[in-house]
Amino acid sequence: MIALAPLSEYNDLAFLRLCREFGAQLVFLGLVSSEGLSRRNQKTLELIRIDHSVRPAFAQIFGSDPGSMGEAARIIEELGFDGVDINFGCPARKVIRVSAGAALLENLPLARKVVKAVRKAVKIPVTVKMRLGPTGKEHLELAKSAEGEGVDALILHPRTLKQGFRGKADWEKIGELKTLVSIPVFASGDVTDGRSFIEVLRITKCDGALIGRAARGNPWVFRECLGVLKGQGTSQVNLNERKEVILKYLEYLQVYYGERGLKFARLHLPFFLKGLPLASELRRNIQLSSFSRVRELIQNYFQKLGSEK
Ligand SMILES: Cc1cc2nc3c(=O)[nH]c(=O)nc-3n(C[C@H](O)[C@H](O)[C@H](O)COP(=O)(O)O)c2cc1C
Repeated sequence: MIALAPLSEYNDLAFLRLCREFGAQLVFLGLVSSEGLSRRNQKTLELIRIDHSVRPAFAQIFGSDPGSMGEAARIIEELGFDGVDINFGCPARKVIRVSAGAALLENLPLARKVVKAVRKAVKIPVTVKMRLGPTGKEHLELAKSAEGEGVDALILHPRTLKQGFRGKADWEKIGELKTLVSIPVFASGDVTDGRSFIEVLRITKCDGALIGRAARGNPWVFRECLGVLKGQGTSQVNLNERKEVILKYLEYLQVYYGERGLKFARLHLPFFLKGLPLASELRRNIQLSSFSRVRELIQNYFQKLGSEK
């Protein structure tokens, strides 16, 4: 299985849809607060809009109060999501401050209560996404208790809270977890292309992987992973395809969000243009333009690039 990892702020419906069209078998949305969701806060609900075109999709919640975590999970089920993921990995201050995310790896009894409440609240699949525990053991204990509570699958990003995104993801730890539980285990961390996808499966014997950072501006990475799995070589995208995907992304943004979608274009387009020659002026101009102007800028840029080749 190959899926899009939760990437808060980058998980607009247009991007999720592109990832699905290029082969992501499942998409995770970025975390939302269980407190906000259980109170049906409008801003929180907007963050987890769902559309049939992106399913199967899992929403992710964080929190340390079992009651509101259960209620938030119920709302996620009601909204039509295919599953709910519990975040035990986020290192952000706003999450740690409420003793949630990766902080719960240091309070395993409470983490178990949270898992139990979510599991009890819904019929849809429940997954747990963790980082490594501070001493390299807590995540194993949490995994065992999550399995005992009836969680359907585990996802491990093998870095500690302290590490943030530094160093390399320690894939050996995913292999270690895989030997300990009987439910599916998915890898998250440093899978960037078809080759690393095959490599993480080989090293860890895990059941699949999530791609996060490497999918930004690069949704065709999922097609490559599926291709490599079938024994095909790695695939490149040519300039024309890149342009067409960008235009499609803009079109989807407008369909889902109208002019408000521009904020996502401003976030994602620099990734789509990464590594292309003479794109810095274009990246700057995009920040100041309307949808129709952005489309024109993209068309002109690629036309110029094509004619210079
Ligand atoms: C911008 C950004 C936002 C993220 N948001 C979330 C999130 O909401 N929930 C979560 O569990 N992980 C989140 N992550 C972590 C990723 O899901 C993933 O575990 C991590 O980036 C390692 O995988 P990668 O090397 O494929 O990026 C985020 C990472 C980034 C870079």
